[in-house]
Amino acid sequence: MGSSKLRLSGSVRADACEQAEKVVDAKDLNGRGAVVTGAARGIGLAVAHRLHRAGAKVAMLDRKESDLHKAAAPLGGIAIEVDVRDSAAVEEAIQTAHERLERLSILVNNAGMGMLQPLHEYTDKQWDDILAVNLSGTFYAMRSAIPLMLESGGGAIVNNASVSASSPTRGELPYSAAKAGVIALTHGAAQEYGPTIRVNAISPGVVRTPMTELLYSNAEILEPVERSTPLQRTGDVDEIADVVHFLCSDASRFVTGQNIVIDGGLSLPQAGIDETLKWSLDMMAKAKAKRS
Ligand SMILES: NC(=O)c1ccc[n+]([C@@H]2O[C@H](COP(=O)([O-])OP(=O)(O)OC[C@H]3O[C@@H](n4cnc5c(N)ncnc54)[C@H](O)[C@@H]3O)[C@@H](O)[C@H]2O)c1
Repeated sequence: MGSSKLRLSGSVRADACEQAEKVVDAKDLNGRGAVVTGAARGIGLAVAHRLHRAGAKVAMLDRKESDLHKAAAPLGGIAIEVDVRDSAAVEEAIQTAHERLERLSILVNNAGMGMLQPLHEYTDKQWDDILAVNLSGTFYAMRSAIPLMLESGGGAIVNNASVSASSPTRGELPYSAAKAGVIALTHGAAQEYGPTIRVNAISPGVVRTPMTELLYSNAEILEPVERSTPLQRTGDVDEIADVVHFLCSDASRFVTGQNIVIDGGLSLPQAGIDETLKWSLDMMAKAKAKRS
């Protein structure tokens, strides 16, 4: 009895793996047009690849100074330069994407940036920039894309927030505030635009990208993060793309207004990055004191 149970659970597991392969390889987004912001590298690039692999036609948006064209070439992606802080430029970029995609039905607001320093040291410009890229950029793109998506019969929006939104962490409070705004926009828009458009957010924990490279170059910071994460490691961009793919596809057709946390358990009570960031801040303060 015991061994047959074991065999059964083994075969269920094998089936699940096979299923997962099918999900990843399914051309379930065939014929859909997708816009991904901040698509030149990191999570945005992985998402663009995943949506392309699932059959979507992808418009990749990023800043002029990024490696956008190089990133878009292997996908035959449409590359559109835009600074998401500029409302008129975002409007124009979304319009261009809509025309070139023929049908815009997916929007992934991923462009983002942050900094690490104590709240009282942030300048007005730094505060404005963090709010503009992470929150205003998301608002501008949603405002421009929603009428086009309604016209095309609907679709899905995924906004990239952060675990930092619901667990504001020392040193990145303007970023936390901006990302909390992104989640509020997501919850509200899901109500305003259901049933035609589904709107969800994702909240990654620590994921290896150019944005977090500094963390990975310092084992003293990385090791406690891994230790305080129940899955004992940080994330990979493909693990974020998996969830974005799900939220863009019909597999999530009854999911809207949600914030899906993808952090290996980092933000669970008793786990967490807070001590690590405090340690990083202390180290930076000591280095600053030494310089002055
Ligand atoms: N990496 C992580 O651990 C992590 C964790 C939580 C949330 N996030 C969020 O994931 C998203 C992607 O982050 P990433 O780690 O891939 O970062 P990244 O820095 O590697 O990539 C960000 C991309 O956004 C683009 N971008 C920045 N400012 C822009 C602007 N003004 N206009 C247009 N494009 C702009 C950049 O050029 C870049 O291509 C961000 O929203 C970030 O806040 C990342």
